[in-house]
Amino acid sequence: MTDKIPLAGVIGSPVAHSLSPRLHGHWLATYGLKGHYIPMDVAPEDLEQVLRTLPRMGFVGVNVTIPHKEAALALADLVTDRAALIGAANTLIFNEDGRIHADCTDGYGFIANMRQNASGWSAADGPAAILGAGGAARAVISAMLDAGAPEIRIANRTRARADALRAEFGPRLVVHDWGMAGLMFEGARTVVNTTSLGMVGKTEFTLSLDRLEPEAVATDIVYAPLRTGFLQAAEARGCRTVDGLGMLLHQAAPGFERWFGQRPVVDQALRDAVL
Ligand code: ATR
Repeated sequence: MTDKIPLAGVIGSPVAHSLSPRLHGHWLATYGLKGHYIPMDVAPEDLEQVLRTLPRMGFVGVNVTIPHKEAALALADLVTDRAALIGAANTLIFNEDGRIHADCTDGYGFIANMRQNASGWSAADGPAAILGAGGAARAVISAMLDAGAPEIRIANRTRARADALRAEFGPRLVVHDWGMAGLMFEGARTVVNTTSLGMVGKTEFTLSLDRLEPEAVATDIVYAPLRTGFLQAAEARGCRTVDGLGMLLHQAAPGFERWFGQRPVVDQALRDAVL
């Protein structure tokens, strides 16, 4: 029915601080589209029932965030290759027949942010060094490998999680000890912090960047604050830096296009709207 107003939203718990309603709201207003985007706090035990009900209420899809990303993938009827590889979903599309299609656009968002804000950058430029081995690291690693990264060095406080990624993603991954993580910056062309170090209210980032070379591009998935201690230290070494807000903005674009029929642009006006 064409006169129906399409509904979308974000499901998480907690969800009150999500920037997604503001960013989708900005796009809906900018393009003059009919639609609403609603934050929904859903407990894990209610996720399946909510996902089965929303399509019947006029929802065309939802974003899912912590703690539902893995469960949403498991509940989906169709899964994109990249979501299967990352092992999580962040974007669900409700097909007309009620089936749930799961995608994960986090890795796409990472690459798009780098391309937009570090002109000429390519994952294939040389070795990458990644701090962390959680869900965000999985998305970054799978996207970097897909985009031609020749070697990805990873270090994580809990080494077993890094070893598990190596076992899964193969020999282009090289695991380093967290205690000597600084060594893996030598010769790296892309360095990424995927840990929560440096996030508002969390432990400060204190690793040494003495080995970091000015040819490297540094990026952080943390975006609160925008200029993290890690990015400031990389800048002091002469590196180009890309903040983490752009990854959040870009990961939202494919879902918006599927739900509302307009490919949205990530620009300064959008950044201003969500900050
Ligand atoms: P996400 O899905 O956002 O990646 P996560 O799976 O909880 O979240 O991963 C958080 C990452 O930050 C992990 O790599 C974590 O290291 P551990 O696997 O050892 O937990 C890392 N991290 C969080 N706090 C840290 C700290 N104080 N020092 C070092 N690493 C930390």
